[in-house]
Amino acid sequence: MLKVTAALFAAVLATSVTVPMFSPPVREVERDVPYVPTPQPVVDAMLKLAGVRSSDYHIDLGCGDGRIVVTAAKRYGTRGLGVDIDPKRISEARFNAEVAGVLTQVEFRRADLFETDIARADVLTLYLLPSVNMRLRPTILARLKPGTRVVSHDFDMGDWPADQRLRVPEEGSDIYLWIVPANVAGRWRVTGPAGRSHDLQFEQRFQRLDVGGAQGRVTGDRVTFTLPDGARFDGRVQGETITGANGWRAVRIGD
Ligand SMILES: C[S@@+](CC[C@H](N)C(=O)[O-])C[C@H]1O[C@@H](n2cnc3c(N)ncnc32)[C@H](O)[C@@H]1O
Repeated sequence: MLKVTAALFAAVLATSVTVPMFSPPVREVERDVPYVPTPQPVVDAMLKLAGVRSSDYHIDLGCGDGRIVVTAAKRYGTRGLGVDIDPKRISEARFNAEVAGVLTQVEFRRADLFETDIARADVLTLYLLPSVNMRLRPTILARLKPGTRVVSHDFDMGDWPADQRLRVPEEGSDIYLWIVPANVAGRWRVTGPAGRSHDLQFEQRFQRLDVGGAQGRVTGDRVTFTLPDGARFDGRVQGETITGANGWRAVRIGD
């Protein structure tokens, strides 16, 4: 099987705009990514890596013929949305959803992925390009709920390290999973179980956390770090509050 690389994508994109002489003008769809479908074994692996469950709302940006949204709906019972800039792909996707018997669970919309509101997603799937992933990254971090699973076929998110990476050897594909971290950067007043408070500065880089030199992690809404004196914090963020498992609490008091 031919390996699809960014270079191949670019070549497909370059050739797809050639119009034969004397033919009537063809209105080209302005794509940011050419159409290259994800092979079914990779679709299956992406959904498995995302840990898809029936309660999830799933969005595929640049959905092509809808195979990822349709597979998730059929196999896991999800509801979902696929958007594609190309109307031909949207017709194919609706047809495929009908054949699979999931038309009432899914929606396919002709739209620009950069103008699509993704806030509702519990799972977001992507097969785009590195540059497109990078353009989407600020929206993913700002709009998606903490804990949302993002899975990308073949392309990463630059210096936002994946939480998991998996090889699908039979297709020569890599897939990446990110769990959207809560934003916890800032100054927090941390109160221990005995009622003593300390103010601590949380420096955050994606899922990595630095609390006064102590390393920690943000996984969705879960925050963990260990202070130099051995005190271990493990809590859940809800807006401006973190509630710890062992009787401590933190409230954000500044940037
Ligand atoms: C590599 S294909 C992936 C298709 C499908 N997600 C899959 O994995 O089988 C990328 C898709 O993105 C669509 N696309 C490109 N630019 C887009 C844009 N700005 N907005 C929405 N869709 C776009 C293309 O038409 C194409 O169908």
